Amino acid sequence: INSTEVAAEPGETILPVALRNGIKIPHLCWDPRLEPYGACRMCLVEIEGMPDPVPSCTTEGREGMIVRTDTEQLREIRKTIVELILYDHPRDCLTCAKAGTCDLQDLAYDLGIEDFTPEEHDLPVIVEDVGNAVIYRDPAKCILCGKCVRICREVQMVGVLDFADRGYDTQVIPAQGGLSWDTDCELCGQCVDACPTGALMVQKAMHKGREKDYVK
Ligand code: FES
Repeated sequence: INSTEVAAEPGETILPVALRNGIKIPHLCWDPRLEPYGACRMCLVEIEGMPDPVPSCTTEGREGMIVRTDTEQLREIRKTIVELILYDHPRDCLTCAKAGTCDLQDLAYDLGIEDFTPEEHDLPVIVEDVGNAVIYRDPAKCILCGKCVRICREVQMVGVLDFADRGYDTQVIPAQGGLSWDTDCELCGQCVDACPTGALMVQKAMHKGREKDYVK
């Protein structure tokens, strides 16, 4: 990878091998706790002999494979993907509680994107069941990486979150009754932990500062 010889375990995909060897590949939907998903396309890499870039999170490493992770073409593709996500994102990064720990914001800065003119939230912020309030949801900040849905299903083995609708209208929705003590939700917080943006946050912490300053 990038002229450095690395070793992969049988069946291992390129992304974890790169990260283990200190080679950075941007990613939004990959999580070492989860099955590879291949949704965000941020982790595209070039492989010698292949006509188009491929997602490194779902492509297995092979003997003798030559991989490039940081080329002009890849940066252009990643920049376009992040710009498209931001086009439909509130962009209130300067006042968002997730600022400083937001993977999307970090990627935007890395790629030289500087337009953070705030947009109206086109979906209402959802304060779950005020009496038992634990998890705060801002669907407008969801980038549909599916990490919350998958961690609830694959790690916590509960599955109270799911996708609803299709195409532009796709949303992550919780089970009936929301993420509260009164549902099957175990309030383990794994979905909040996995969320790369400010779409899922701990409700008690909202409006008390930025996550980077109070979570140690
Ligand atoms: Fe590979 Fe999202 S991290 S497609």
